[in-house]
Amino acid sequence: MILVTGGAGYIGSHTCLELLEAGHEVLVLDNLSNASPEGLRRVERLTGKKVELVEGDLRDGAALERLFGSRRIEAVLHFAGLKSVGESVEQPLRYYDNNVAGTVKLLEAMGRHGVKRLVFSSSATVYGDPSRVPVTEDMPLSAANPYGRTKLIIEDMCREVFRADPSWRIALLRYFNPVGAHASGEIGEDPQGVPNNLMPFALQVAVGRRPVLNVFGGDWPTADGTGVRDYIHVVDLAKGHVAALAKLDALGGCVPLNLGTGRGVSVLELVAGLSRAVGRPVPHQVVARRAGDVASVFADPTRAAQLLGWRAELGLDAMCADSWRWQSQNPNGYAR
Ligand code: NAD
Ligand code: WQD
Repeated sequence: MILVTGGAGYIGSHTCLELLEAGHEVLVLDNLSNASPEGLRRVERLTGKKVELVEGDLRDGAALERLFGSRRIEAVLHFAGLKSVGESVEQPLRYYDNNVAGTVKLLEAMGRHGVKRLVFSSSATVYGDPSRVPVTEDMPLSAANPYGRTKLIIEDMCREVFRADPSWRIALLRYFNPVGAHASGEIGEDPQGVPNNLMPFALQVAVGRRPVLNVFGGDWPTADGTGVRDYIHVVDLAKGHVAALAKLDALGGCVPLNLGTGRGVSVLELVAGLSRAVGRPVPHQVVARRAGDVASVFADPTRAAQLLGWRAELGLDAMCADSWRWQSQNPNGYAR
């Protein structure tokens, strides 16, 4: 069976669904610090298959020991982590403890039990402000905030673990900007408090929970002056994990892979796409730039295509239509 840490969360729950559809048995470890168990119940309903949810923390060595000691775990997909950039600036130690120390515990338990196959949720944030786009995996890495540094440290840790013991097989999946939801509208992203990211904020404006979307900067050196990113449908991303798992042994090492579409989309293009999906304009206004933002980041996804045989298939319209279906059917998310 596959152990999915953080499997109750946004990307994890979509990946559990695709794993089940691909015939894997799935075990989730999640402390529910940023998720509701309802998402996984819906995954079970959608697939007609069981997901075992163990409520526990990565940093709890005894809990990990029980988990690895009592199950035959083939590989680990490691999503569990805190992910808010702003919060990481205010509470850096909480991020190092949860993300870095938590991953140390996980890798220790894996090593002790001879489970040496890992797929890690890294991020395009490890490229910092890239010197050119599209971004390739060999470009220099840097961290602009504590959250990003936890991803960089964990990547470095994985590279060193592999160097010390080359029987490990590790995929470092660098996600670009995940958006969208399962086509059923039953599972999706359910942020707590004020959303930091563009799509969840725009959705809450579209559904009437917030009055207006602030567009951070209209004077970026981009075609329409707004920031450009590589939005990727979460179902494509989830399928990328299933592909990485299938190809993990063939990758033969500790390999970083961009998971993006290769296409840059501006804030205004995304707002236009969402407005089409909603059937009315999403109110927005251009305001000052947000501190720490960069003009344009999008992936070169060639390596993932070559090594995993995986490509993102869903475009902006599907991302917006599926996001809107989730948000309109569940205006208050899972209502935890
Ligand atoms: P999420 O918050 O929805 O999911 C993370 C899950 O991990 C949550 O269910 C949370 O309860 C759980 N968790 C956190 N700390 C834990 C701990 N110590 N022990 C056990 N469970 C714990 O976030 P997501 O968007 O699904 O992101 C999943 C992963 O992908 C994260 O590692 C994130 O950093 C990474 N990532 C996300 C994005 C994005 O924009 N969403 C982009 C790049 C990378
Ligand atoms: C996208 C664009 C904003 C909100 C962040 C993390 C990164 C990764 C993904 C995890 C930018 C603009 C946003 C709003 C706006 N997470 N925007 N109004 O900044 O590319 O990446 O999430 O690894 O680490 O930094 O994503 O969705 O916040 O912003 O105009 O209310 O939308 O300026 O151009 P970002 P985002």
